[in-house]
Amino acid sequence: MAAQILDGKGLAQKIRAEIKVDVEKFVKETNIQPALAVVLVGDNEASKVYVRNKEKACNEAGIKSLMYRLPAETSSEELLKLVRSLNDDASVHGILVQLPLPDGIDEQKILDAIDPEKDVDSFHPENVGLVSQGRPRFLPCTPYGIQQLLVRYNIETKGKRAVVIGRSDIVGKPMGMLLLQKGLGGDATVTICHSRTSNLGEIAKQADILVAAIGKPEFVTADMVKPGAVVVDVGMNKIKKEIVDENGEKKLVDKLVGDVDFDSVKEVAGWITPVPGGVGPLTVTMLLHNALTGAKRQTAK
Ligand SMILES: NC(=O)c1ccc[n+]([C@@H]2O[C@H](COP(=O)([O-])OP(=O)(O)OC[C@H]3O[C@@H](n4cnc5c(N)ncnc54)[C@H](OP(=O)(O)O)[C@@H]3O)[C@@H](O)[C@H]2O)c1
Repeated sequence: MAAQILDGKGLAQKIRAEIKVDVEKFVKETNIQPALAVVLVGDNEASKVYVRNKEKACNEAGIKSLMYRLPAETSSEELLKLVRSLNDDASVHGILVQLPLPDGIDEQKILDAIDPEKDVDSFHPENVGLVSQGRPRFLPCTPYGIQQLLVRYNIETKGKRAVVIGRSDIVGKPMGMLLLQKGLGGDATVTICHSRTSNLGEIAKQADILVAAIGKPEFVTADMVKPGAVVVDVGMNKIKKEIVDENGEKKLVDKLVGDVDFDSVKEVAGWITPVPGGVGPLTVTMLLHNALTGAKRQTAK
């Protein structure tokens, strides 16, 4: 039997509606509109799309989005100056610097300069530490979205074998951390794999919950998946795919695919996220959640 679909897009709409109600309540109680500053440096086409999506999602949820678009030639010092002024601005509750930054800008230095109370991506070392100790200010958006997906679909993680493929600071490592933490959506036995892992296929096949965050199109194939497993595909890869058009001619078109070979894996897995419409919409949704959390925390002080 084919796997059931974990509908990230549908769930994202539901959670966004909840956040909108929460924002309205917050504004009514405090007379303060939550505001997220989004900083985009340079002309990366994918980044422009992500930033537009974030801006639209903020507006729909009643969160003010303050856009800062800077040229690719911006220096680390100029960017640091902007970050510091946003840190000092009490009307700004969250700061997001869209990655990747152009060559020549010291990415780590910029991320470290963001006030940890406004660090809605949860990249600051202080926030990474708090997440790892199970007392987060902000949960990193993509792993948080995935955890919500599992929890709200009543997928048990407690005592399950979870395998995460990928060890990036943005997805793989924090995903492992959230699955490991005590409580709902956690308590799993976690293995994190990467490009130096031996016998990756064998390890992946032991997973009750398999999260693929690799950045390699259709990397996870059916033979790497345990029958009935929950498969979460974080990957977003643009590939050229050959199709036959209405005139019977072959042509190459752009297609967005995940890190999982959806067509073969869906025949083995119990649950699976599609790409698009799986993890992506939840990432932006949890960013909204974090922006509101930032506003609540700073107002409560
Ligand atoms: N849907 C969303 O909201 C969302 C959010 C963020 C990212 N993404 C997507 O998720 C994917 C991963 O993103 P990322 O930022 O985590 O990427 P990344 O920083 O490039 O990390 C990729 C990880 O995959 C590992 N890897 C690469 N090749 C491998 C192989 N052959 N076998 C095993 N492991 C391998 C790497 O191992 P090493 O550490 O050994 O190099 C690394 O840890 C990308 O497609 C990205 O576009 C989606």
